[in-house]
This record gives sequence, structure tokens and C-alpha cells, in this order.
Amino acid sequence: MNRWQHVWRIVPIIALLAIVLTGCGDPYLSSINPQGSVAEQQFDLLILVGILMTLVVLVVATLFVIILIRFREKQGQTGYPKQVEGSLRLEILWTVIPIILLAIIAVPAVTQTFSLAEDYSQDEDTIRVNVTAHQYWWQFEYPDLGIVTSQDLVLPTNQRVYFELTSKDVIHSFWLPALGGKIDTNPGLTNTMYLETSDVTGAFKGKCAELCGQAHALMDFKTVVVEPQEFETWVQGMTEAKDEPSTELAQRGREVYQEQSCFACHAIAGEGGNTAPNLTGFAEREMLAGILELNKENITKWVKDPQQVKGGVQMPSYAHLNEDDMDAIVEYLMDLNLHK
Ligand code: CUA
Repeated sequence: MNRWQHVWRIVPIIALLAIVLTGCGDPYLSSINPQGSVAEQQFDLLILVGILMTLVVLVVATLFVIILIRFREKQGQTGYPKQVEGSLRLEILWTVIPIILLAIIAVPAVTQTFSLAEDYSQDEDTIRVNVTAHQYWWQFEYPDLGIVTSQDLVLPTNQRVYFELTSKDVIHSFWLPALGGKIDTNPGLTNTMYLETSDVTGAFKGKCAELCGQAHALMDFKTVVVEPQEFETWVQGMTEAKDEPSTELAQRGREVYQEQSCFACHAIAGEGGNTAPNLTGFAEREMLAGILELNKENITKWVKDPQQVKGGVQMPSYAHLNEDDMDAIVEYLMDLNLHK
């Protein structure tokens, strides 16, 4: 068989891989769609390094091919061609060029590293958010606004946000690629970082980026960027939220919620424990448990058997609830909105 036929056999495999890989990448979980100045700076750095790397690869590959062809052993050739080992000119050339390339990368990289370490904790125009990672969910506290929420990080457009991050259990990593951020959350230690939102509204996906246990891959959150006015409304809604069911069924659900001691771990409108996600304004969130579409069917699925949805979570199963109680509690949860 012709030896080139072997090479052609891998073409379908590569084509298949290319098709499979087009499924990768979430439009909102991407650092090549930067939102805000921090993400843009990082993106520019990526592009700069990418261009330099491509140039180096092109030059080296071209030289390699030229040398392969030009210095092939020719018919009737005797002896070796001229040897260049120890050539002062060449040694200087390939020492100086990498130094120049590294310097071009180092200047913006070092400058940005220092500028990103800026402390905005006392800055009046900055929103402060304290992030606490848990196996396998995120708590967001706005200390200056008196708000505690979970899973959905709501922010206004064109806003600088200063994060203080820690963990309640193991090491997690807060990663919000669209806005540029990624930093470890360590138990017993507070890390800090700032990010900025752009003028683009929408939900940007965040993820835990440090292997932290069984449900690590499902430890997602959303950053919901809204117009400043809408943010004000949200802040007001969260601050004034009351635990007052609006329907009879929801009222019954509230009783079930109390009978089952859900409040021991979950807080609603300032009342309850803080070892599980705060549920104030729950019905307005983007997702359930960070991964499921928020609807009655999924809430039932989750409350019945959380392990089935997100293996390893602390939330116990409530499969023992009868159908009426289950419907009532789901109704109660879907009634937890902010603008009644
Ligand atoms: Cu938390 Cu991975």
C-alpha cells in the first residue's frame, strides 16, 4: 500500500474530532468574549502573546523546512557541509531575540498583575461582595447593602466590584471568565480581587474551577448584569422582602417548610440558618441549584432527591413528603419573588 494512504486514514478521525469540539464552549463561559475592563485587559494580553507565539512558530517552522531541503545530502556529495557550532553571531542572535520577545510580554503582564492587585475595599464607587464557597454552592453577601443571596450574583452595568472570597469547607475556585476573574477560595483565608462589568446586560456563567468533590463539575453560578435602575429595584426588593405567601397553597407550603425545619439551614427574608443557600427572592433566579431550569417540575425533582441531581450535596431528601405537601412547598418556593 502507498504510504500516503495511511496518512489519509486519519483525516476522518480529525474531521470527527473537529465536529465534536464545536460542541465545546458556552457562549457566556468564555474569556474570548470579554466584558468589562479587567476581562479586556486580559484578552489583549492573550492576543499579544498569541501573535508573538504564532510568529515564533512560523519563523522556526519556515527555517526548519528551508534547512531540511537546502542541506539534504546531495548525490555525489563527499564530506560534511560547513559546521556552525559555536558561531558567536548565531549564539547572540538566538539569545537576544527571545529576551526581546519576553520583555515585550513582561511589560504589560507585570503592569497588569500589579494593577489587578489594587485594593478598592474603601472606594465609594465600588460595590463590595463577600463570596463564600460551599460544597457545592456559592453565597454572595453585599455587606454595604445588607443583602445575602446565593447562586445568582446580581450586578449593575459599568460597575467596579471588589470581592473578598473565602470557603466554608474545602478549596474551591471562583471563576467568572466573561468578566475576567478567577481566584481560589480557601477555608480560613480571605483572597481579594476586583472585576468590572461592561455596559452589556445579561447572565454570564461562572463555575468552580478547583476540584472540590463529587459535584465539583456542577458547582455553577450566574452573574446577572442589569441596568443600574433595575439593580436599585432588586436591592430594594431584597432589603424589603417579606416572608408572606400570596396564595393559600403557598401559605400551606410555608407550614410544610416549617414542619420540615427547612429554616434550620435556609434563610428567607432575614430569618433562618446560613448553612444552605439563602432563598430570599428564590423564584426570580436564573437557575435551580445552579444547573437546572427553574420550574415547578425541577424543584419537585430536587426536593425529592437532591443526590440524583447533584450527587454529594448536603441537602437531605424529602421523598417522604406526600404529593399535596410537595405541591404546597413547591408553590411556596415559586412564590418567593421580590415585587409583590
Ligand atoms: Cu467547588 Cu469545585
